[in-house]
Amino acid sequence: MYVCLCKAVTDRQIKEFVNGGAGTFEDVCKELGVASQCGKCSQLAQNIVETAVKKAHFEPAV
Ligand code: FES
Repeated sequence: MYVCLCKAVTDRQIKEFVNGGAGTFEDVCKELGVASQCGKCSQLAQNIVETAVKKAHFEPAV
């Protein structure tokens, strides 16, 4: 699903980016442009990043 409509960023892109090594919401914002325009996606995007980081930490990719 689209998380950031302004930048057309999906939850899958955010999760892939975190799995690729990004560790913070700021990294995601800088790289994908999330929350860089209207900012409405900020809270949701932050939740997705936090969940993805926890998951990446506890469930290493096989
Ligand atoms: S929806 Fe993400 S900045 Fe507008």
